[in-house]
Amino acid sequence: MTACQFKPASPMSFLDYLAVLLTCITGLVLFGAFYFLELGLNPFQPEQISLACTGDPTEMMVTWVTFSPTVNPTVEYNVHGEPLRFNAAGTMTKFKDGGWLHRVLYIHRTKLTGLKPDQSYDYRCGGDDLWSEMYTFKTLRSGEDWSPRIALYGDMGTDGQSLSLLTSEALNGNFDVILHVGDFAYNMDSDNARIGDKFMNQIQPIAARIPYMTCPGNHETAYNFSNYKNRFSMPSDDMFYSWNIGPAHIISISTEFYFFYREYGSEQIANQYKWLEADLKEATKKSNRAKRPWIITMGHRPMYCSNADGDDCTQNESKVRTGLNSKYGLEDLFYKYGVDLMVWAHEHSYERLYPVYNRKLCRSPLENAYINPCAPVHIITGSAGCKEHHDAFKPKYGPWTAYRALDYGYTRMKIHNKTHLYMEQVSVDKGGKIIDNVWITKHHHGPGAWIIPMK
Ligand SMILES: *[C@@H]1O[C@H](CO)[C@@H](O)[C@H](O)[C@H]1NC(C)=O
Ligand SMILES: *[C@@H]1O[C@H](CO)[C@@H](O)[C@H](O)[C@H]1NC(C)=O
Ligand SMILES: *[C@@H]1O[C@H](CO)[C@@H](O)[C@H](O)[C@H]1NC(C)=O
Repeated sequence: MTACQFKPASPMSFLDYLAVLLTCITGLVLFGAFYFLELGLNPFQPEQISLACTGDPTEMMVTWVTFSPTVNPTVEYNVHGEPLRFNAAGTMTKFKDGGWLHRVLYIHRTKLTGLKPDQSYDYRCGGDDLWSEMYTFKTLRSGEDWSPRIALYGDMGTDGQSLSLLTSEALNGNFDVILHVGDFAYNMDSDNARIGDKFMNQIQPIAARIPYMTCPGNHETAYNFSNYKNRFSMPSDDMFYSWNIGPAHIISISTEFYFFYREYGSEQIANQYKWLEADLKEATKKSNRAKRPWIITMGHRPMYCSNADGDDCTQNESKVRTGLNSKYGLEDLFYKYGVDLMVWAHEHSYERLYPVYNRKLCRSPLENAYINPCAPVHIITGSAGCKEHHDAFKPKYGPWTAYRALDYGYTRMKIHNKTHLYMEQVSVDKGGKIIDNVWITKHHHGPGAWIIPMK
């Protein structure tokens, strides 16, 4: 609104003043129209498109946003290269953000079904004659005998540190699925949820092509995680769910229940715990585990870490690990069912741990710690970006810390088969260089492989 700083060279007449006043009023009205009413935006244009797996390789969930209601939300699709002859109707929900503008987003969801596994499809979404650009995705392969390639990271924000490398990897088809381990936009509710829109549009080149699987972080807490819950469409409940990919069973949880129970109810801790135990029981039934021996969990806040910020994971008895008043601790539960790998974020750094249980290493010396590990392995991959920069490390760390780095970046994981899983850490600061890698080799999965007695 530079018009208000207009300085006349000669004494101003009444008309000059009037002109300045009118310019200022016009400026304010225009600003208001663009800012509050969001003129200039086509409210029917689909945006913020993202895909999600349902756990069934013949299905794909498509989610998108418009700012005016769509009468016939639709996805048009066909196998790659063919005219978009098929269409699938979707549902629309009205989401009102909790900010003072109470902005309304129309969230559209369409589940494509009856797809061929391991097949590329072209699609566009929209309806009422207004369509998104065309995107291509590939359905997951069916069965267990293939090698999923997965990107893992948390704490990304809208500052773009890892975005361009991840986007080019997505365009090159380097990943079958993305796991974003909480903390999306800093925050999705900020600026009346416009930061959420910005984030979802920034990841669209990735998420419209590759299923984008999530769990909530502490930056999603506003209005009972409503931006998070509305903007993503995870299988069953966005807060906790599980699904299968190749030889792995992946469980996504909310660690945030352990920190925001005063605001949003402590019963959610118990509900999730109960669900988790039932899910783990099912996944570890002999026939299921034989097919999908890898059980991998993702949750935002780690059980262990060596950062100098006093967070829960720096405490000897972290809440996530040991629970509240020794109830609902997750370490014992995961140990009992032989969870192989736990993926965390929250700390703006990367840290790989040796197999550890109850603050004890299960084997020494540490050479070959990852060949038939005698306890679960943890990694913390929360360095994708964000405006809060890095979380420095304490000089002293527990004997379970194997490697740590403050570089921005993300993790690539490839689950080669039932016995071999590979992970490597990409440093964005070093132009994509691999700064850490590990092979986990397991000939036995399940608690039978552990050696420390349960406490
Ligand atoms: C918050 O949302 C969850 C569902 O995700 C619900 O079970 C809980 O009751 C809500 N809490 C409050 C205080 O509204
Ligand atoms: C945590 O445990 C270590 C080693 O047992 C001990 O030296 C330290 O004082 C403990 N810290 C707290 C805060 O209890
Ligand atoms: C599993 O993958 C590893 C690494 O690619 C390979 O060396 C091994 O032979 C594979 N095992 C089987 C049974 O295919």
